[in-house]
Amino acid sequence: MGKCNCRQGEKVIDAGHTTAETELCGVRLPAGSHVMLLLGSACRDEAQFPNSERFDLDREGPSNMPFGHGIHFCLGAPLARMEARLALNALLDRCGGLVRDATPVQWHASIVVRGPTVLPLTVLPG
Ligand code: HEM
Repeated sequence: MGKCNCRQGEKVIDAGHTTAETELCGVRLPAGSHVMLLLGSACRDEAQFPNSERFDLDREGPSNMPFGHGIHFCLGAPLARMEARLALNALLDRCGGLVRDATPVQWHASIVVRGPTVLPLTVLPG
């Protein structure tokens, strides 16, 4: 697939075009078709990841897609993973845990930069 990457914040889309005729999920795509991959959606594919909506740090199974795949795999993935690990450990060291509130999550209204603008949590005492 030819590349036309969009690099804005937490990237959830990848755009490009097919270089040869192919079939994807039963849909025939002629060579030169424009395609947009929704990486965030791929990570919630129930066929690959049971309970995909669950934040599960111990999840096993196929590798997921937030850092892409193949030759353009994210160069900063080790740094991003280390920062996330340090931040979550620092937070969890200071409390007894975090529990989701019943209040709904509010999402940023974009398919490019996907993420919550409001994530109601209860901080449990340590
Ligand atoms: C949670 C944080 C991050 C996410 C979710 C993320 C995600 C991605 C994704 C999906 C790609 C595209 C892969 C593709 O086109 O197939 C990418 C590429 C890239 N990322 Fe990240 N990234 C993150 C953090 C970082 C950081 C911290 C750096 C640098 C310090 C970085 C540097 C790059 C570079 C240089 C590429 C281009 C690699 C290439 O085209 O060969 N990223 N990233």
